[in-house]
Parts: sequence; C-alpha cells; structure tokens
Amino acid sequence: MSDTLSIEGREDLLARGYSRRNLGRVAAVLGAGLAFKATLRNAHARAMTALPAGQDVTKLVRIGSNECWTGPFPAAAKLGAEAVFHGNRYDPTGNMRTNLIKTFASTENMPEETVMPWGGSSDPLCRTIVTFCSPTRGLVTADPSYEAGWVTAEWLNIPLTKVPLDPQNGYKTDVRAMLKANPNAGVYYICNPNNPTGTVTPLEDITWLVENKPKDAIVLVDEAYIHFSDTPSALSLVREGKDVVVLRTFSKMFAMAGLRLGLSITRPDLHQKMMRYDGENQSYMLPIPAVACGTKSLTMHNDIEARKHEMIAARNMTFAHLQKRGISYIPSDANMFVIDWKRPAAPIKDAFLKEKILIGRSWPVWPNASRITVGSMAEMKAFCAALDRIITA
Ligand SMILES: Cc1ncc(COP(=O)(O)O)c(C=O)c1O
Repeated sequence: MSDTLSIEGREDLLARGYSRRNLGRVAAVLGAGLAFKATLRNAHARAMTALPAGQDVTKLVRIGSNECWTGPFPAAAKLGAEAVFHGNRYDPTGNMRTNLIKTFASTENMPEETVMPWGGSSDPLCRTIVTFCSPTRGLVTADPSYEAGWVTAEWLNIPLTKVPLDPQNGYKTDVRAMLKANPNAGVYYICNPNNPTGTVTPLEDITWLVENKPKDAIVLVDEAYIHFSDTPSALSLVREGKDVVVLRTFSKMFAMAGLRLGLSITRPDLHQKMMRYDGENQSYMLPIPAVACGTKSLTMHNDIEARKHEMIAARNMTFAHLQKRGISYIPSDANMFVIDWKRPAAPIKDAFLKEKILIGRSWPVWPNASRITVGSMAEMKAFCAALDRIITA
C-alpha cells in the first residue's frame, strides 16, 4: 500500500520519525481519508445497531449528525442536476474546478493560489496532520471537539493532547492551555465554531496562538460551521502569510454532505508540502455535480443569510423551551448545541429513538451530555414535545 506514496513523500515521512510500518497507514489516510472513513462506518454502525430491527432511518427526525435540515439551495441544486447530464466528461467545460477556486477567491477576497478543492474537508484535515505532525510533533485539540484528527493521530502513533474546554470562559477553546499542554506540537487544531458545543474562539485568541506557537507548527482552523455564526474567519491570517490552514466544507450550510465538496486554504508552499505524498490527484478527482452546485452556492449571499436566520429561530425556540424546563445547555453560535442531562445520556438517546427522534452522540469526557443538531422549526418542535414526554421529573 505504501507503494502508492511518492519516493519524496516516503523519505520525508521516515526523516520525520514515522515508522516504515506506518507508511501504509499514511497511504490509507491520504488515499481517501480511510482511517476516518472506517471510524465513520463504525459510528454509523453503532447508530444503526441502536435502531430497533427494521426501523427505517428515513422515517426519523434526524438531528444527530449536524447535517442541514433541507437540501442545497434550489438554484444551486439545479446546476448540479444539469451537470449530471454531462457526467461522461471529467470536466465538461474544462474550467469547472478553476471556476470553483476563482469564485471562492473572489467572494472571500483571497489569492486564488491559496485555495485547493477536495471531495469534502476530511481529506485535507487528515492530510494536514500527516504533514505537520509526526511521532515527535504531536496534535493538540480541545476536548470535546471534532474527532477526525484524534482518529488520524491514534492511527499514526502521533502524540495526542486534549485540552478541556473552559467552563469559566464560556466553553471556548483555551489556546493558552493548548500551547502549555504541548509547547512542541506539530498541529494545533481549532474547530471554530467548535463541534459539538457551537462555541466560538475569538480571532484574537487564534492570532495569539499563531504568534506564540513553535516554529514550523501549524494552526489548523476548521471552519465547517462558520456560516452559521458571525465570528470572523481566520482566512485573514492566511492572507497575511501566517502558518495557518483553514478548512471549509460544503456539507453544512450548503447542505451538500452527500455530494462531497470541501476546500483547504493556505499558503502555496504549505499546500505543496501537503501534496508531496501523492501528487495533486485527490484535489482533481471531484464530483462535477458537487462542483457545479457548490460554486453557485458560494455566491448566494441572501440565501445563506436567510438560512442562518431560519436556523437561529429554531435554535432560539428550543433554548427557550429548555430554559422553561430548567434543562441545562451550552449556548451555541452554530447549528448544534450540547445538553447536560445531569445523568447518563445513553438511555436518554434511546428514549428519543423510541419517539422516532435520532439525537447526536456523547463525548467520553462528557457522558451525561448529548449533541443536538438544530433541525427545521418543525423538527425542533417535535424534539421539544418528545423531551417533555421523556423528562417528566
Ligand atoms: C468540524 C468538522 N470538520 C469536518 C467535517 C467533515 O466534513 P466533510 O463532509 O467536508 O468531510 C465535519 C463533519 O461533520 C465536521 O463536523
């Protein structure tokens, strides 16, 4: 399997302390984010085994996976559907990928050479960790936070340090504690807004980490949920030429999780390092319906704003209900939030499933808490009604 890595890539990995045995594992991660996919499959299998036999997932209120409650913006979906009819070509117009890059660059005021598209953001997430971490340069993240990086680190024997979110400080990612926990890490991962809490890390904190991190380390800012919040993007740090990689996905606000499209945005020399293991293939093998749909979505500013406010209305309604019921939750700036049940979350999740509502998972550090995705207003009303039946005390 490691045969698929370039000679330069193999030499680089060995020089940075990866074992020969791990070369095949790196190839699996880069090939298609396989380590992450295996985890996803496991998580999916776990979710499925929790379903009573014969239960049809499409009949459930699905507020467990941070998907959007509705489909892609109709005008964008139309272009995606039209692209299907030209699916005999790798790139029907010869410039679909370039057009995606140009469109993102112009909407975000970024140099085009900083933008790299992918079939989702999972590949560049894992790839950044492969490239800038090693058995001697660890990964530091908040806890709880999105786990794809954890899985990659564990898979490749990269030291992993998880720093608890700070309850005294609005559960925001504690960048100073992250640097203290491992002053020699290869990657500091900040999910902003954070999954699962939806809490934001101020740009000043991210900037502080960038200014104080060790030389050659990367601050990886995962902005999967940024369109749902008003927090400023770390793209400005990329523009300034800092050691920052920003990730964007089309799976959340743009409702394209099943279509697969994402972007990494960073300095060209850093992208070049990320590509040295397997060339640029993974960035060129893009599903054209996703490229057509995603490119149009980026320009639909009014629809983005309207969808954000639709989500906020459903979230506010739910929070008002939780407050009325005296149920503890963490205020969120994204399309998800955490409820602290003050007792084990697993039986509560099962009870919701009996009500045909699939809520999200718990993180090992908070076994009494569940992540809830904000669905449509109707879905959140169904959630609140079920909650009243389940939590009677
Ligand atoms: C924070 C975060 N980053 C990345 C991803 C992966 O997204 P994609 O569908 O683009 O691979 C997810 C998916 O849930 C996520 O929550």
